[in-house]
Amino acid sequence: MDETPVWMHAEAQTPVDLQVDRPHGARIYDFLLGGKTNYAADREQAEKVIASIPSAAESARENRAFVHRVVRHLVREHGIRQFLDVGTGIPTSPNLHEVAQSVDPTARVVYADNDPIVLTHSRALHISSAEGATAYIEADATDPDGILDSRVFRDTLDPEQPVAITLCLLLHWLPETYDAYGMVRRLLDAVPAGSALVITHATKDFDERVGKIEEDFEDTGSSVRTRTKAQVGRFFDGLDLVPPGLVAPQRWRPEDVEIEAGNSGAVGDGHVPIWSGVGLKPGA
Ligand SMILES: C[S@@+](CC[C@H](N)C(=O)[O-])C[C@H]1O[C@@H](n2cnc3c(N)ncnc32)[C@H](O)[C@@H]1O
Repeated sequence: MDETPVWMHAEAQTPVDLQVDRPHGARIYDFLLGGKTNYAADREQAEKVIASIPSAAESARENRAFVHRVVRHLVREHGIRQFLDVGTGIPTSPNLHEVAQSVDPTARVVYADNDPIVLTHSRALHISSAEGATAYIEADATDPDGILDSRVFRDTLDPEQPVAITLCLLLHWLPETYDAYGMVRRLLDAVPAGSALVITHATKDFDERVGKIEEDFEDTGSSVRTRTKAQVGRFFDGLDLVPPGLVAPQRWRPEDVEIEAGNSGAVGDGHVPIWSGVGLKPGA
C-alpha cells in the first residue's frame, strides 16, 4: 500500500490530512481484524497493544461477532429498524447495515466517525439495500448535538421510531475530562421509548495488565481510558438491560446465531477484556 496517500474529501474536494505518521484507533483496529487500511505507525502501535493484550486480535473479532449478534437480535426480537452507529470504524464485512438489512431490507443506518479515512472508505463501500438507507456523518462523538442536528441524521432516521444507538469500542477513546455519560444521555433523550443502547468498552477488570494500553497511548495524541463494570453499567442507568446483562462479548447470547469466525462462545472471560451490554429504553 502507498504510505503517503492524498485523499480528497468526498464533498468539499479538498485534500484530507490522514496523519499517517500517527497511529489512529480505526486503523489499529483494522490491522487487528486483518484489514489492509493501516500504515506503519498504526502497525507499530498495534504491536504495543498486542504486547499488553496478547488476545487483542481475537478480542477485536469477538467484539465484531457481538455487534453482528446484537444487530440481528434487535431487528428480529425487538423490531428495531433504525441504527445510529457512532465510532463506525473502517468498513469490515459484514458491516452493520448489511447485517440489519439481511434481516429486514428496510433497515436504515446512519454511521458517524471523526476519522476521515473511515468516512472515505464508508462512502465507497457502504451500499445499501434498495429498500433501506445507509448514510454517513463526519462528526465527533463529543458533539452529540452536531450528530442529532445534522441533515443526514434528520433525513435518514424517523425520530418517532425506535433507534438503536451503537457505541462499540468507542467510549474509551473519549478524553478523560469529557462527560461521556452526558453524551450518552443526550443521544438517548433524542430517541423514543423502545430504542436501544449498545456498548462495548475496554476494561482491566479481568486482567490488570490491560491498563498498560492507557500508558501506551499517552504519547500518540489519543487517550484510552478503561472502565470498570460498575462504570460501564452507569451508561445504562434508567434502561432495561437485555439478558444476560453486562458480560464479555463472547458471553452475550452466543447461542443466538450460527457460529461465526471469532465467536466460539468458549473463550474465557479474561481473554477478552471488554464489557458488552444492550439496554432498552423503557415505556414502549
Ligand atoms: C475500535 S474502532 C470500533 C469500530 C466499530 N464500532 C466496532 O466496534 O467494530 C473505534 C472507532 O471510533 C472512532 N472514534 C474514536 N474517537 C471518536 C470520536 N471522538 N468521535 C467519533 N469517532 C471516534 C475511531 O475513528 C474508530 O473508527
